[in-house]
Amino acid sequence: MKTARRLYERHAAAADRGGWSVERDVRWAEIDPTLADTQPDILAALRDAAIIESFHPVNLCRLVRLCREDVDAGVVFSLEMYEGFKHFHALRLYLDAVGHEPAITDEELAAVRRHAPDDVDPTEVIPRLVEFMLSEHLAAYFFRRLGERAREPVLAEMLAWIAADEVRHAQSASDLLEKRIRHEPAVVPAVLDAAAGFRHYGAEAVGEVPIAMAGDDVAIRTFAQRVERLCGVRLVDHLKSTL
Ligand SMILES: [Fe+2]
Ligand SMILES: [Fe+2]
Repeated sequence: MKTARRLYERHAAAADRGGWSVERDVRWAEIDPTLADTQPDILAALRDAAIIESFHPVNLCRLVRLCREDVDAGVVFSLEMYEGFKHFHALRLYLDAVGHEPAITDEELAAVRRHAPDDVDPTEVIPRLVEFMLSEHLAAYFFRRLGERAREPVLAEMLAWIAADEVRHAQSASDLLEKRIRHEPAVVPAVLDAAAGFRHYGAEAVGEVPIAMAGDDVAIRTFAQRVERLCGVRLVDHLKSTL
């Protein structure tokens, strides 16, 4: 009898299909720094995004500990760790290539990690997974919108690849939550509560997170839809019931 494909096999296969190379695929030699400089707000947003991506090992370390018996989760977090590193690596290289100031320093990256708490609360597994899923969801919109606005073609192309990675990451997190809900439907209210009180994990790294949410109707709508698909409950109805 043919067994169903394991969740982590699907995640690994999707990561393989979506793979791109920082070294080989980004057209580093064709970057136009003068054109990039005409959009300083985009470069500043990239700088924050690179710092948030650099913070993944701290946040994922806590998630790995919270979900250590979940083999699928271990794979999802491993892929996130690697691809998040790629995003950090590519963004920092890009900012260096266009000569953006102030350049990100190693000390700055270490300082962000130094102040982050290391402890985990085992009762917080559902809120932390929801936070992870929604942060990835908004990251996808953030990179997509930035890529649509970017005039510099090498950047626009790279941001489209990063956005596609984030869509896959959000879906992987959603699969992990779906699995938990299937095993234990009683966790649904905790998923809804976490979505209602959502805070981007990047806030721990840079304070205010430059997310797509503000003013992005599609990002907001799909944010709610993601939660509603998982829970079978409308987020607004849940909010009303808890007032
Ligand atoms: Fe990322
Ligand atoms: Fe991601």
